[in-house]
Amino acid sequence: MKFLATPLHSKYGVEVQNIQLRNISASSGYNELRCLFEKESLLYFSDQDLDDSAHLALGALFGPREDRSLNPMDRDPAVSRVSNVKQDNTLYGKGEKRLLDLQSNMLWHTDSTFLPVPALANILIGRVIPSSGSSTEFASTRVALKEMPDRLKQRIHNVYFKHNYSHSRRKIDPNLAADEKFTHWGNQIWKAVWKNPVNQQESLYIASHACEVIGMDTRQGLDLIDELLEWCTQSRFVYSHSWQVGDVLIWDERAMLHRGVPWDYTQSRTLSSICVSAQSIDGLDDMRYPPRH
Ligand SMILES: [Fe+2]
Repeated sequence: MKFLATPLHSKYGVEVQNIQLRNISASSGYNELRCLFEKESLLYFSDQDLDDSAHLALGALFGPREDRSLNPMDRDPAVSRVSNVKQDNTLYGKGEKRLLDLQSNMLWHTDSTFLPVPALANILIGRVIPSSGSSTEFASTRVALKEMPDRLKQRIHNVYFKHNYSHSRRKIDPNLAADEKFTHWGNQIWKAVWKNPVNQQESLYIASHACEVIGMDTRQGLDLIDELLEWCTQSRFVYSHSWQVGDVLIWDERAMLHRGVPWDYTQSRTLSSICVSAQSIDGLDDMRYPPRH
């Protein structure tokens, strides 16, 4: 299968123009897709016809689907909806927890750094798109690390970040941060630099959930995290995606930051999301703390 790919950003990301993702399988097209994912970090496909079961099947090619259920007995078989629409089709209003959670996703972040097993990839599909706003912005932490000044690069050498879900929610609303959905996972510690085992490319592994630098005073650590996030999210490292219904984005959580952009919340917006968990073959073992020698 030959992929016809054109750049999204001058230094990362491609749009693939001649592929219907529903036709990709382990024996047909997945190897090419995975190679492009490792190299480009962000893949865009328009006009796709993926229902939930095809979405799940595509995710399964990348690895095990992430489980965020608070009780292992409650594993949710459904695809996640990133949406301001309630089950009864009315919309969440200002101040409601779901809307505050969506607003927390408008901080630059990497999905799932707060979980005991973080994510390799997110596969996000545009389902219901409002007339304006609601873009998703991406920043390559691989490119940003490559171009980072030495004085900053030296400060992340052998450094580990502590991540906590409620930390990012507290920036939006303290009551939201106290919800069990965000306190349940506690702290996770990950190395600040993720080396891709396929191509040896390194990227900064950071998120709005990063709340501490191990071994550093809390305030100094937060200042360093802010400085690094600011460096990585300069406009020259950013690609902004304006959604159309049927768009599919697949990105490498090891190498990309992303954030949502507000929209008029009196309009519906629904994206379907599957996060795939990272595994040893994705370089996960080298990210753990304490480091293995
Ligand atoms: Fe996200």
